[in-house]
Amino acid sequence: MMKRDDQAMSQLAALEQGVVDPEAVLSAQRVEKTYRSGTRALDEVRLDIRRGEFVSLLGPSGCGKSTLLKMFAGLEEPSHGHIRWWGKSLATVGASDHTLAMVFQEATLMPWASVAQNVRLPLDLRRMPRAESDVRVQDALRLVGLDRFHEAYPRELSGGMQMRASIARALATRPNLLLMDEPFGALDEFTRNKLDADLREIWSRQDLTVVFVTHSIYEAVYLSSRVVVMAARPGRVIADVPIEAPGAGGMRDDAFRISQEFMGYCKVLSDYLTLANREGGANDALDH
Ligand SMILES: Nc1ncnc2c1ncn2[C@@H]1O[C@H](COP(=O)(O)OP(=O)(O)OP(=O)(O)O)[C@@H](O)[C@H]1O
Ligand SMILES: [Mg+2]
Repeated sequence: MMKRDDQAMSQLAALEQGVVDPEAVLSAQRVEKTYRSGTRALDEVRLDIRRGEFVSLLGPSGCGKSTLLKMFAGLEEPSHGHIRWWGKSLATVGASDHTLAMVFQEATLMPWASVAQNVRLPLDLRRMPRAESDVRVQDALRLVGLDRFHEAYPRELSGGMQMRASIARALATRPNLLLMDEPFGALDEFTRNKLDADLREIWSRQDLTVVFVTHSIYEAVYLSSRVVVMAARPGRVIADVPIEAPGAGGMRDDAFRISQEFMGYCKVLSDYLTLANREGGANDALDH
């Protein structure tokens, strides 16, 4: 009995000192964000993301998904609380096996540069020797299925291919942590499904942790090992749902998309989203 109390006390002490799960690649510790406009975008978000997870943030518009992702990328600072990367602050993390990359909703390619030049940009910024960056660019473009498009210009590519180039640019830096903010939101459903499948394949073949923002329940279930559901006003986490890999080999293929298991997860998440909308809506009414 005594022992259990001691354990609980030391866990509490660790929490208070901000000691995080040693496996956590990313950790949000009671993170709050109030913008200067007064908008309370996030309220006491606690979230640990462990190495190798594929975590989706799912929630209605305005619930703070992009705000949280931007903080994970170090582009915004919390108003209260802390973000930790591999247990450290951004200023002290710095090892070469602790790297992150971000992919936005738009492909954000330089229109005057070829696909290969676009993908090479972050490597040039790091002053990587050309021989090494050539290999990286080639590998990244192969991974996303754009081997034959090195010399093409963005305007010559379809929306889906532009997104592939944007993902290649992130992968060329060989990140351990990939942050993606609705990367396929603007694509048609068929292209999106294809890119989802390819992304899942890329993730499963390497030591990569992904945090992926989406509005789509189907996309979240298909891709993720865990789905974090958020509600708005103020933005907060309302559910954390592990998506157990289906089938013998844990395959997420087209058959998975129409399986009972898949539909079951969609139903669970849909119920949480209904709750999220109702709660956001209720607070909305109070605002007026
Ligand atoms: N730079 C900013 N300044 C002031 N308010 C902001 C800023 N960025 C976001 N907000 C507000 O913070 C809240 C959360 O916004 P955020 O963009 O993080 O939501 P989201 O979940 O990504 O929404 P969406 O699904 O529409 O992309 C919203 O009310 C939004 O208007
Ligand atoms: Mg957003």
